[in-house]
This record gives sequence, C-alpha cells and structure tokens, in this order.
Amino acid sequence: MIKSIEWTGESLKIIDQTRIPHKILYKELRQIQEVYEAIRKLEVRGAPAIGVAAAFGLYLGLKSETFTTSQDVISRAGQLAEYLSEARPTAVNLRWAISSVMDRISHLVEEPEVMVHKFLEAAIEIQEDDKERCRRIGESGAGLIESGMTVLTHCNTGALATAGIGTAFGVLYTAHLQGKKFEVMVDETRPLLQGARLTMWELKQAEIPATLITDSMAAYAMQQRKIDLVMVGADRIAGNGDVANKVGTYNLAVAADFHRIPFYVAAPLSTFDFSLTSGENIPIEERDPSEVTHIGDELLITIPDANSWNPAFDVTPFRLISGIITENGIITPPFEKSIQHLIHHTYQN
Ligand code: MRU
Repeated sequence: MIKSIEWTGESLKIIDQTRIPHKILYKELRQIQEVYEAIRKLEVRGAPAIGVAAAFGLYLGLKSETFTTSQDVISRAGQLAEYLSEARPTAVNLRWAISSVMDRISHLVEEPEVMVHKFLEAAIEIQEDDKERCRRIGESGAGLIESGMTVLTHCNTGALATAGIGTAFGVLYTAHLQGKKFEVMVDETRPLLQGARLTMWELKQAEIPATLITDSMAAYAMQQRKIDLVMVGADRIAGNGDVANKVGTYNLAVAADFHRIPFYVAAPLSTFDFSLTSGENIPIEERDPSEVTHIGDELLITIPDANSWNPAFDVTPFRLISGIITENGIITPPFEKSIQHLIHHTYQN
C-alpha cells in the first residue's frame, strides 16, 4: 500500500493529498514550519497521519537549532510542541503523538545532540506503532464484514490517513484480503472531497468494488436497502463514546439509526480523549469559507461573495453508534463502561 509519510533520513517525504487523484506529487519537508503548513493545508491529513507528521516535525524543528544542555532541548521542544499542536484542533492524535514523544524524552539527561536524536527515534516509533495499531484494528473489525454486503464509508481512513492500512479502510482491506466479496459505497465528502478523491483512489488500488455517491444521497441509499453497514473513522472520541469525525458523519449516523443499519467507528486508542466526559467540548475546526463556495482553488459554485460556514467536523452522539473498533477489540454500548474496561485492560497489559 502507498506510504503517506516516509522518513528519508533527512526529510519527511509526503504525498500532497490535495492533488490526488489528478497528480501524485511528493514533497520533502525539511523544516518544522513546512510540516505545520502541510498539516494545516491538508497536504498530509487524517488523524493518525497528522500525529506521525507532527512527531517528525518536532525533530526537524530541534535539529535546526543548537543547544548547550539537555534541559534547553526539552524546554525548546515544549515550545515547538505547542506550535505544532495548533496546526489543527480537532484530531487529538496530533496532541497525543507530540505528548507521547515528550513523555518518552523529557526525563532523560544526555548530551544535547543525543537528546535531539531521541526525538527522531521517538517519531519513528510513533509511526511503527500506528502501523501496528491499524493492522490490529483490521483484524478486530473484519468479522463484521460478510460477503454480499455493501458498506457505506465517509471521508478517507486508509493508508493516506495513517501510517498503516488505515482504520475503517483497514477493516475493509483486511476483510478483502480474507477473500470476502463485498462492495463499498463512498460519500464524496464535501467540501474537500476526501471520499471522491482519496477513498475511491485507494479502493481502486485495493481492487475493492466501489460506488461513489454525493453526500446527500446516503439516506436515500439506506431507504432503498442498498447499505448493510456504515463504517467510518474518528478524529476524537470522548470518554462517553461521542465521536468527532469528518462533517457529515452525524448525518449518516442519524439516517442509519432511523433505518436500523449498524453504524461502526474504527479508531486506535490514540484517538480517545479520556479528559473529556462528552463530545460537547471537542473543539471543532472551522476552515476557510472558500472551501464551501469553491471546488478546488478555482471553480466558484455559488454567487460571488456568498456567505458560507465551514465546520470541518461534527460530533456523533454515542447513542447512535453500534460499536467502536479498536486495536484491542470492539467495544459496544454501554460505552462509558466498556471504555473504562478497555483502558483498565490496556494499562494492565
Ligand atoms: O480533514 P481530514 O481529511 O483530516 O479529516 C479526516 C477524517 O475525518 C477521518 O475520518 C479521520 O481523521 C480518521 S482517519 C483514519
């Protein structure tokens, strides 16, 4: 599968996801500011992938400076971590990756160059760790997919969005590798069309049959019994199971509930924010209104100067969710209890 992020030894090589599928354009990022901008502009995107990119960004920021003590390295890393965390507010994986790196290193006392190198090692570990989590999510969830099904998905949750096979996409991919014959219906995912551009592209490469629909067709597809299951990713999951994901996810959950269609979320534990007891306080990124008034940079699809609103995510209440597929198994309602059990079990082992 395609690698969305690769460490070359000197730079962070990414595929510019704003250009897919029309152009496969690689970019080499050498400075922390370039990583910040790539995340902000969605050249690298998807909750786990931006966490991995930010971990490398932190190293690139430190690498370009000189330090006299290990304490200097840590305090500068703290400032750069703050800066990177601001790139996108909703996906908690960004902050999770940065704080995991800081936690691993901040207690060490070594020569400054050794300290800085530890940040690179930690970023590589975060990348490897995400790859493994994706593999395990795929294994956990593949049993939900049966031959003959049509699964509806939203946005992009595949290799482009992670360091591995993906989350929701990883489940589909694993089921496909197990020989199951099913189809995927893909929401275009306006305004930035991650479904139409990225998921359709990845499904084609994986040779999984796919049908594209506009976002507004999903409820009708359900009413027409064309959908057997909905499977999406997540950007942040609160302690009660409320899920923030790409805007339009909530619409799907409401429609799936009405039509009694199972609605699953697939995400690693790095997407859980246990500091939040509900989704109400998840910060929702609001992006430039021009993403709604235009398709791409040029095509204006409304009157000039139209007012528009562009929240990039929404929050699906836990009541509408059938289960959350994690690397440690599928959790089901009541979520508050099963999430507690999962944390307990995870930290015991
Ligand atoms: O704005 P994006 O494209 O970064 O939004 C991505 C999503 O909403 C994904 O569903 C989510 O990050 C999970 S990716 C495994």
